[in-house]
Amino acid sequence: MLVLGIESTCDETACAIVRNGREILSNTIASQTDLHDVYGGVVPELACRRHIDVLIPTIRQALEEANVSLEDIDLIAAAYGPGLIGAILIGLNGAKSLSWTLQKPFVGVNHIEAHLYAALMSTPSPPSFPCLGLVVSGGHTSLVEVLDIGQYKLLGQTVDDAVGEAFDKTAKILGLPYPGGPLIEALAKEGDANRFPLKGGRVKGRPLDFSFSGLKTSVLYAAKGPNSSPKDPLTLSEEDKKHLAASFQKAALGDIHKKTLLALGSKTYHGLLIGGGVCHNQELRRLFQGENTGVPVYFPPPGLITDNAAMIAGLGYHVYRNQGPSPLSLQASTRIPFHH
Ligand code: KG4
Ligand code: ZN
Repeated sequence: MLVLGIESTCDETACAIVRNGREILSNTIASQTDLHDVYGGVVPELACRRHIDVLIPTIRQALEEANVSLEDIDLIAAAYGPGLIGAILIGLNGAKSLSWTLQKPFVGVNHIEAHLYAALMSTPSPPSFPCLGLVVSGGHTSLVEVLDIGQYKLLGQTVDDAVGEAFDKTAKILGLPYPGGPLIEALAKEGDANRFPLKGGRVKGRPLDFSFSGLKTSVLYAAKGPNSSPKDPLTLSEEDKKHLAASFQKAALGDIHKKTLLALGSKTYHGLLIGGGVCHNQELRRLFQGENTGVPVYFPPPGLITDNAAMIAGLGYHVYRNQGPSPLSLQASTRIPFHH
């Protein structure tokens, strides 16, 4: 079964052709970071306009690279959320229009579930279920129980900022461009992570929930002085910038690591699936490698870490096989609860 996947929930317009949920024939991404970096974050209206401009050329390119035509496609899958409402609508309505005109089935895919599916897409032998899933992206930080592909139960999530967002905001405080995650990682490599006493936040009564807004404020005060505001000038030396980046990274990733181990200890899981843009971070990978995790850990391969449509097409195949097509009336959604 040949699936055309479309992804437009945030600032990447992406299209992919995937056979039977695994074999990636093409995976095309039109990135918009050039458009947003001067603002220090994604500007929704600009993202939408760019999606409109590049969606059809990106679909064409994905078909060309896969050497298939629209007539060869058996199923059209699109992310219907969560994300920016206007951005989602463009890819989703593109997918619905193709489905209607070509008379091919359409299926809506949850973007977050697709990030976790990406970790399994190229493993020769997928684990048995249940697995624990950890999503670490620019929009989401969640721990979920993966009962099977397409079956999830939410265990914990962030009550404020996502971890990638915390990296991006820390970068902005330090005067670095968007997306700041990779730049913070690079600075952190040269800094002393014990120089600033920072901690991830705890949520009362909910040990598996995350909170990063307090950490962000601590970074701000360390960088610009007590009770400072974001517009104030930096009061840090170049060396201290590195120490602050390292201390922030240790606090944020340490918090995620600790809560993930707590979840792993609460039940028998056969593997840990990790997905989302922060999987690029080598320190995160180091924390989760080796015996202390206790279960096999699955990360997405390089092309499937940040937002992409191969993961949408891949999971779309399973959703279609398990549940059949989605109605064309399926609404875009900024927040989607996990399926049970
Ligand atoms: O999954 P993704 O592409 O977008 C969402 O669906 O949200 O993740 C993007 C996020 C950004 O916040 C970016 O700063 C972060 O992933 N990121 C990193 C690294 N590379 C990307 N964060 C920390 N370290 C990195 N090396
Ligand atoms: Zn994403």
